[in-house]
Amino acid sequence: LWWKTSRPKGFPPGPVPLPVFGNMLQIDFTNPLPALKKFSKVYGPVYSIYLGFTPAVVVRGLKDLKEVLVTRGVEFADRPQNRISEVISGRKGLVVAPYGRSWKEHRRFTLSTLRNFGLGKKSMEERIYEESAHLIEELKKNKNSLYDPHYVLENAVSNIICSIVFGRRYDYDDSTFQDILNLVCEHMKLATQFWAQLYNAFGFVRHLPLPHQKMFRNVEIVFGFLRKVVEEHKRTRVPEQPRDYIDCYLDEMNKEQRDDNKSTFEEENLFTCLVDLFVAGTETTSSSLDWSLLYMMLYPDIQEKCREEIDKIRGERDHVDYEDRVNMPYTQAVLQEVQRFASVVPLGVAHASIKDVQLNGFTIPKGTTIITDLTSLHYDESQWKNPYEFNPENFLDNDGQLKKVDSFLPFSAGPRGCLGENLARMEIFLFFTSLLTHFEFHLPDPKSPPDTTPVFGISQVPKRFKMRLVQRT
Ligand code: HEM
Repeated sequence: LWWKTSRPKGFPPGPVPLPVFGNMLQIDFTNPLPALKKFSKVYGPVYSIYLGFTPAVVVRGLKDLKEVLVTRGVEFADRPQNRISEVISGRKGLVVAPYGRSWKEHRRFTLSTLRNFGLGKKSMEERIYEESAHLIEELKKNKNSLYDPHYVLENAVSNIICSIVFGRRYDYDDSTFQDILNLVCEHMKLATQFWAQLYNAFGFVRHLPLPHQKMFRNVEIVFGFLRKVVEEHKRTRVPEQPRDYIDCYLDEMNKEQRDDNKSTFEEENLFTCLVDLFVAGTETTSSSLDWSLLYMMLYPDIQEKCREEIDKIRGERDHVDYEDRVNMPYTQAVLQEVQRFASVVPLGVAHASIKDVQLNGFTIPKGTTIITDLTSLHYDESQWKNPYEFNPENFLDNDGQLKKVDSFLPFSAGPRGCLGENLARMEIFLFFTSLLTHFEFHLPDPKSPPDTTPVFGISQVPKRFKMRLVQRT
């Protein structure tokens, strides 16, 4: 019945839903985090909300998140199938694919292909050094001026995934590629906003002239771009001599066709994997770098301490290597603190229960959406001394060594945890150390520091800011 949104017996409690809209009008979708925190004060770490007629269970805090993501990870390893995820993925690919054979095979294939390209002729690390060199040259053009680093960082980061997946990089002045990056960035915001949630709840909204239409237009353009890339690969590839991820996939498709007609390796799946890697691998990592530069400007002493450590370890070399990080606890602590403080993927990616499950004494039916509030870990007052202060000491022990902190899961964890975690860590470390080697980053005007309030989305980004770049001699 249209007005019936009362909770089933044994379901986690939560705020009273309104007819039709459920709890949607009680949540500010431009930033739902404060509302999610407020509800948990009343209903505890596991509670439910209604998005229209669809219930979702919110999980907060270390104990329950660990259970859902890791200890009983498989029981919660599905993804909710909703209209928004269908816009991009149609139940295929990696990020929102349902738990099952196709997702498993594609996750395994993608991890091993990323590893092979990382260990092959040109290692992942080398690719990042090369791109860093381009990045530094670009920034030098703007030394001693006020500069917004957003586009160039995004382009540089995206080039790493493009080089592995498409076999090429894009110049920073390639306007077609910049347009694509902008659309991807916009999508990450549009997909969590009220109009998108409304479409999720009510299918008939699809054709109404509301702001969510932009999402469909953007997706069409990005898909068009990717389609061309795949077509070109098909034209130019030599079977069994893969240049990149796409070639490997096309080889796998041929192999599987010979072995088994019911293969999950087919073109639609390839296409969705490309979108997933491109989308998941770009904005998350580049906004982590945006945040790192913003905080370095705001905390010049921390910036200087990092640079001293980098210079000491680097010696006469052009750059530090990734393996040097074990001797650079301070820099690592700074980067982890950036990831904690910025919580770049604040709510992770929604999970779903693969069967009827029990959690915290409640019954959660199969297929229920599970929202994993990772910010509840990163700002937990019982786990951090001053969670709302930026302080790298959070990750250092009394001897100045890096310490492991349980309440820190920027990449989530468990069977569905971030597939690109190792790549992202390497990129953030190598780009950051190379930037600090070549430049100092200063506030344009120390008397009016930039606003650090995040812009909420699937990934949380800083408001655009400018910095004064001073090239080091
Ligand atoms: C999933 C964070 C970079 C590919 C995720 C999830 C988070 C996350 C929180 C959800 C995990 C879950 O459902 O529990 C981040 C952060 C990054 C980053 C903070 C950078 C700082 C990357 C990169 C790639 C990538 C560079 C590309 C290689 C993926 C994929 C998934 C995923 C494919 C879906 C995994 C699955 O459903 O099996 N990421 N990520 N991510 N990430 Fe990342």
